Amino acid sequence: MARRFLVALGSAVLALSMAACGGEGAGGGGDTADKKPTDLTIGVSMPTQTSERWIADGNAVKEKLQAKGYKVDLQYAGDDIPTQSQQIDQMITQGADVLVIAAIDGTALSGQLQAAAEAKIPVIAYDRLILGSPNVDFYVSFDNYKVGVAQATALLVGLGLKNKDGSKGSATGPFTVELFAGSLDDNNTAYFFGGAMDTLKPYLDSGTLKVKSGQTKIEQAATLRWQQETAQKRMEDLLTSSYNDGSKVDGVLSPYDGISRGIITALQNAGYGGSGKKLPVVTGQDAEIASIKLINDGVQSSTVFKDTRLLAEQAAIASEAFLQKKQPQANDTTTYNNKVKVVPAYLLPIQTIYKEDIKSALIDSGYWSAEEVASGQAKK
Ligand code: GAL
Repeated sequence: MARRFLVALGSAVLALSMAACGGEGAGGGGDTADKKPTDLTIGVSMPTQTSERWIADGNAVKEKLQAKGYKVDLQYAGDDIPTQSQQIDQMITQGADVLVIAAIDGTALSGQLQAAAEAKIPVIAYDRLILGSPNVDFYVSFDNYKVGVAQATALLVGLGLKNKDGSKGSATGPFTVELFAGSLDDNNTAYFFGGAMDTLKPYLDSGTLKVKSGQTKIEQAATLRWQQETAQKRMEDLLTSSYNDGSKVDGVLSPYDGISRGIITALQNAGYGGSGKKLPVVTGQDAEIASIKLINDGVQSSTVFKDTRLLAEQAAIASEAFLQKKQPQANDTTTYNNKVKVVPAYLLPIQTIYKEDIKSALIDSGYWSAEEVASGQAKK
């Protein structure tokens, strides 16, 4: 008798907890197409607020979804993997109907994605692919290999080895360069570095470019969590270990503006940019306002602009499609294998920004104002 009661109680608890998990009929279930947007919630999980690009992404995704009438639960995880896992767990138990996730560690969310799948919540990977899980339903990003090609090309253009139109430049070298990569747990890192190294290879093979430290492997070049301070420290170490013989570094491949700023600080502290010691060509990515100012001031050489407004729009379009029980439209169904399946993706174009492009690409399009570019600080 008592046993039967316990079993019945157990089932009731299970049913309740499944309902709380957003199981069928409790939000996140299969009936979203019949609901009003105002009754639907999209959980948006962003990695960190220390980088302004993710703040812009979070705000843009929220705005686009709210404009469509949806409720949004936007969370930042402070670049801490357990925090991101907990935040996503909570979004699921609170009955999110779609999840949009920019992962800190692309391999760390399989458990959360399994729970989402059980609750029938579609998952959209935002800019960073989530790996090792069959439960990633869509991916919105940019052409990440092309980002790497663009960064290496900007390095070559900055050194004068190439012209912007792709023709051969007037410089002959040889030049000394150093290479930086992003965080190894981010799937994009290998695409950026791979695209860059494929582009630099002929120049490295011929000796036109020389990595004086010898650190050409991605593991040696990597920067955990993409952190500026970590990049600054590595650049300081490289200068001490490989350039203390009076030689100078001519170019630095950097995959992200925060890393570029760390590199530039290390170089400036070592006297570069002062009299007689020109700053090397330094690349970047994300068109962060602090770096746009540096480019405008002739300190950083270039960045790669990825319009977060367009990425946010695609995330909103894909979310809406899932909520209406449709498959979002992909423009790439072959590239992004997450080690379990090829995830259908919508990839957006990129643009290299040199000083002369700031006005047309960033100011005229309303991405940054002239005032923000001058101050190096975002107003919004
Ligand atoms: C990558 C992203 C880059 C850059 C970097 C550091 O995943 O694709 O654009 O933002 O993270 O945040």
